[in-house]
Amino acid sequence: MILVTGAGGNVGSNVVRQLLEEGEKVRVITRNPSGQAFPDQVEVATGDLTRPETLTEALSGIERAFLFPVLRGVDGFLDVAERAGLRHLVMLSSISVTWSVPGWVGEAHLRLERSVQASGLPWTFVRPDGFTTNDLVWASQIIDGEVVRGRYGDAATAPVDPRDIAAVAVRSLLDGRTGEGYSVTGPQSLTQIDRLGIIAEAIGRPLRWQEQSEDWFRDEMARLGMPAQGIDDYVDALTARVGKTAEVLPTVEHVTGRPPFTYAQWVADHTAAFGTAST
Ligand SMILES: NC(=O)c1ccc[n+]([C@@H]2O[C@H](COP(=O)([O-])OP(=O)(O)OC[C@H]3O[C@@H](n4cnc5c(N)ncnc54)[C@H](OP(=O)(O)O)[C@@H]3O)[C@@H](O)[C@H]2O)c1
Repeated sequence: MILVTGAGGNVGSNVVRQLLEEGEKVRVITRNPSGQAFPDQVEVATGDLTRPETLTEALSGIERAFLFPVLRGVDGFLDVAERAGLRHLVMLSSISVTWSVPGWVGEAHLRLERSVQASGLPWTFVRPDGFTTNDLVWASQIIDGEVVRGRYGDAATAPVDPRDIAAVAVRSLLDGRTGEGYSVTGPQSLTQIDRLGIIAEAIGRPLRWQEQSEDWFRDEMARLGMPAQGIDDYVDALTARVGKTAEVLPTVEHVTGRPPFTYAQWVADHTAAFGTAST
């Protein structure tokens, strides 16, 4: 039995689906079992990763687990997992842990990685670049018109499809790839403006990027709950990416044996979210 946490999320939902396709037995943990629909074959346990007293039953009989990185800390989960006899833990992390200046986000994930390493449990870390799904934040502006407001339109990343992040995690779980830290990117370096162009082509109508001020961006990030230090570090990271080509890594193909999904493929599967030419 494999435990999947974060199973309603972008990555975890794909981990669940892919494990079921491989014929594995899956249990998920959620804080709100009535709030979401999981596949019928899945065992659903109620639990909160930040409250270890809720996890004992959910971890009983579990050999391997996919761990969502709750930034408040995973020590309680690790204690219960160790007592339950877990043999392999694959944790979602962030590519920023590998940067020379990890920033607030990278430091937060590094603390979790260190906790996992200190636990003595066999581990694998899956460290993605920015997710394709982050761009769903543009959906309401795209549905409403042709202007998308943002900052650092010329900053490039190699956006990675959560299906590929999940696929690396699933191969790690099933092939027993312990002691590995996999940095995972998509197959292309794309700026935000490039990505908007790909969405425009897919939905069949023009879209225009409207560059906003740094103050606007800072206010937006604060509104989303990012602390001041996180905002400073994010501004620095995006500024450093303007006009640069993002690193593209071969990890997905190396680990899974197939190429990663392109951004255009991801968009093609999400045109409904962005509206179509007829909306
Ligand atoms: N977005 C990016 O570009 C990016 C890049 C690198 C790394 N990351 C990492 O990936 C994470 C986001 O992954 P995602 O998009 O797959 O997540 P997501 O879609 O935001 O889903 C979050 C999931 O985590 C579960 N969860 C959250 N807190 C929990 C808790 N205390 N106890 C139990 N379950 C909890 C939720 O489950 P319930 O609500 O059902 O309990 C939900 O299923 C980020 O937080 C970051 O660590 C993101």
